[in-house]
Parts: sequence; structure tokens; C-alpha cells
Amino acid sequence: MSLWYEVIVASSSPNLGQVCAVIGAQWGDEGKGKIVDRLAEEFDVIARGCGGANAGHTIVVAGQKHVFHLVPSGALHAGKTVMLGAGMVIHLPTLMEEIKTLQQAGVTILDRLFISKSAHLVLEAHLTIDARSEEQRTKSSSGAIGTTKRGIGPAYADKARRIGIRADVLQQSPADVKTAVQTYAELIASVEPNEIDVAAETNNLLIAKKMLETCVHNDVPGLLHKKLQAKQRVLIEGAQATLLDIDHGTYPFVTSSATTVAGALQGLGLAPRWLHSCIGVAKAYCTRVGGGRFLTEADEKQGSTLRERGGEYGATTGRPRRCGWLHLPDLHYAARINGFTRWNITKLDVLDALPIIPIGIGERGGKATYKEMPGWRSSTAGVQSWEKLPKAAQQYLLTIEQETGVPVSYIGTGPGREDMIVR
Ligand code: IMP
Repeated sequence: MSLWYEVIVASSSPNLGQVCAVIGAQWGDEGKGKIVDRLAEEFDVIARGCGGANAGHTIVVAGQKHVFHLVPSGALHAGKTVMLGAGMVIHLPTLMEEIKTLQQAGVTILDRLFISKSAHLVLEAHLTIDARSEEQRTKSSSGAIGTTKRGIGPAYADKARRIGIRADVLQQSPADVKTAVQTYAELIASVEPNEIDVAAETNNLLIAKKMLETCVHNDVPGLLHKKLQAKQRVLIEGAQATLLDIDHGTYPFVTSSATTVAGALQGLGLAPRWLHSCIGVAKAYCTRVGGGRFLTEADEKQGSTLRERGGEYGATTGRPRRCGWLHLPDLHYAARINGFTRWNITKLDVLDALPIIPIGIGERGGKATYKEMPGWRSSTAGVQSWEKLPKAAQQYLLTIEQETGVPVSYIGTGPGREDMIVR
């Protein structure tokens, strides 16, 4: 027997079907929440690997709309274990506020929330630095990134500098918490001029300690492994999206974390061989917040039509999103990087009224080239079966499927939970 054949036989996994990731394919805001919400019911663990409060999803709790940034949307399902991985950067006051909001709505999560001890903390100082560096960039030739000003970049920068404060600080005595902040203040002073309010930062951590100390877990990878060995299922909720990835995105107009499925696995400390499926989520058109290239950005008139129909305003910042058309090479790129096994194409109904839908197929001289797809000019709102879709809508979706080699299996046709085609 060849050695390679031996390796293959010895490696075949008996664990199929236990880990699924949901990953954005564009620049975020694809509407990952709905598929996560539907899938979460059938999973035991909901996990986030990377990013911070720059993410934002709107969730209706007890009839009221709330925007969550750190608590994964799947956490709303009672009894599910929730894990925040080492790759995250966590702003504790935001997390506590979200937990309290949930508590007020009768959803308790403290007893099922596990925060990796290695996750880094976003301090108030990081928010200040984020705002300041954006201001400075505005004046530079590169221009502002258009960050969410949630301190994400500065927190990851401190992590890379190896001076960051991690969640395990909450397990320390109040005196040691203060020392940790003081040490951080000294270290950061040697690289950047910053005013760190040691007393205020310490106070924040001590307040968070009271609520969250017992949630800090020393071995999230071990806990995940145990759950998987007990045949539990893990749903990974991606944050941001592929084109915002620090390595594979449209640098420098990206976020500061790895937003791909590989990044999520790394952030959780979950071995890649557990992954069974990866659902790529893309809107039926495309949006972007912040600066950076957007080849298929629509002109103002068409852009505002998409914005109004799609309600394209940032959940985290309220900023109007830049709107445009699909760019198939980008979807293909995202599908390749993440190994998407299925597409979830969201918000198809937003395109209902358009006579012609441009779809980006390439680039020439820095400009997108388009194929014009016929629109369907009839309502797909709330449609729940493939057969009931107009032929032109089917053709539009089949084009995505053919060009990317990934089946379009889940199609969003409205904001409601049930407004989805499972094909
Ligand atoms: P940061 O992540 O706040 O540093 O922002 C960097 C870039 O990523 C900016 O263009 C943000 O608008 C964008 N971004 C970060 N998180 C999200 C998200 O969840 N949805 C959409 N865009 C995001």
C-alpha cells in the first residue's frame, strides 16, 4: 500500500455533520442572521471566532428590535451553549449591556456563555485611538478606512504587539487587575502617545469581573472538543465577511481580523477536520460601508433605489451603505477561499422591480464589465418554493451557481423568518 493511501485511510473522519460555518462572501451585512437563526435550533453550540462589536445584527426579542454586536444571533435560542473564541476582541461594557437587554427580555445566557480566557479586550483607549487614527487618515492621501470606531484595529494591534489585556484578567484580584492596566499603559506609551485613564479602565474591568468572571473559560478548544466527542453540533457564526479579511480582503480597506472560515476555526481553536459544511452568504446585490474599492457600485440613482428597498443602513453605525451589483469574480473568489458547500443568497425580493439587473463579470481598465440580466418585475416577497419563483429570478440565481460552482440552496425572499426558499 502506498504511504499516501495509508494516510488517507487513517484520516477518514467519522465525525461528519457536526460543524457548520456560516460565512459572509462580500463586505459584511449579507444578512447571515436569518440562516443562523434557522440552523441554530438544530445545533447545540453557537460559536464566534473573530471580530468584535464591529459586527451588528438586528434581532427581534419579545416583539422589540435590538441590535447586538457581540452576542451571536444564534444565542437567542434558549439552552444553547455560546462560545466567544480567543480570536475575538471584546468590549466588556457592550457585552454586559447586551446580556442585560437579553435578561430583561427573559433570555438568560450567563450560565451558558463561555468566553475564551485568551480573547483580547477592547478598552476605552482603543475607541479613542480608532477615532483619532481615522481622523488622521482622512487627511492623508489614502483616506479614512471608515471603521466602525469600535476600537477593533487598535485592539488587534495591541494583540500583535503582545501588550494587550486578555479576558483572563477578570480572574485576577482587583489589585492585579489594576496592575495589568498600569502595565498596559506603560507599554503602550512606549509605542504610541496615548492617554490611558488607568482608574476608569480598571473600574470598567472590575464591574465586568462581577458579572462575567465565571464565564471566562480556560480551555475553549478543549470544551469544544469534548462537546464534539459527545456528538454535539457546533454552528460557527462568521462575523464581517470575506472581502473584509485582513489577508484576503481589499486591504487596507478591511477589518483587522481573519474573517474567513479558516480564521473562525483558528479563532476558536477548532481543528479544520471537524468542519463539515460552510454556507456562503451573499446578498442578491452588493453593499459596502466604509471606504475602498467597489467595482460594481451603482450610480447614485440606482444606488439609492437599492438602499431604500433593501433598508441598507448600518446596524452598528447607522451609516447609509454604498449599494451596487453582484460581482461574480468576487463571489467565486470567496467560494474558493472558504470552500463554500452551499450558497445562501439573501434579499432577492429587493430586486423585484428592476427591468434589468446588471451583474459584474470582470474588470477592464479598472472598471467592471457587466452582463445584463433580465429582471422579473413581479413580487418574490415571501416566496417559499423554487418553483414559484419567476423564470428570470431562477435564471439569475442559476447564473451565480454556474459561475461559482456552488449550489444556490437557500434564498431569502423577505425579512421574516419563514421568507426563505430551501431548494
Ligand atoms: P473596523 O472593523 O471597525 O476596523 O472597520 C474596518 C472596515 O470594516 C470598515 O469599512 C467597516 O465599515 C467594515 N466593517 C467592520 N465590521 C463590519 C460589519 O460587521 N459589517 C460591515 N462592515 C463592517
